[in-house]
Amino acid sequence: MNSCKLLASALLLGLGVLAGCSGEKPAKPVSFQKDVLPILKSSCAECHTAPNGEGYQKSGLAVGSYAELMKGTKMGPVVIPGQSLNSSLNRLIEGRAGVDPSIQMPHGKVKLPAEQLAVIRAWVDQGAKDN
Ligand code: HEC
Repeated sequence: MNSCKLLASALLLGLGVLAGCSGEKPAKPVSFQKDVLPILKSSCAECHTAPNGEGYQKSGLAVGSYAELMKGTKMGPVVIPGQSLNSSLNRLIEGRAGVDPSIQMPHGKVKLPAEQLAVIRAWVDQGAKDN
């Protein structure tokens, strides 16, 4: 190999390493207990706690634990593991198109901050694990 080719391959290698550095970081694994539950407790539990919360009484959804959240409402699950786009939990809190604004959650209050929406979305997309 002549020195020109050597230099070229060294440059390419360097570029490859740089590209690896600046690329998207893999999404950080989200923990249900540490990341998701505290958000639900502070923004949703006042209404979605069994047996007396207003949201629990009307919809059947309680958010005090993983099991309760995964059980969903009287109508069925609100979380489809791996599919935040189709999960009614995400659709409701994000106020996505097709959601009646009168049932956007949290009910009658300001929407959750974007970082919290992103945490819940990532948790669902990572498989909605009990972690
Ligand atoms: C101020 C009370 C209140 C708060 C806070 C609240 N909810 Fe609700 N939620 C309700 C009520 C009441 C219903 C029953 C449906 C309705 O009347 O809109 C409901 C229904 C729901 C439903 C079922 C909707 C359906 O289509 O059946 C989901 C899912 C839900 N809430 C999620 C949440 C989440 C997640 C949070 C926190 C980000 C939250 N709620 C915060 C009162 C509340």
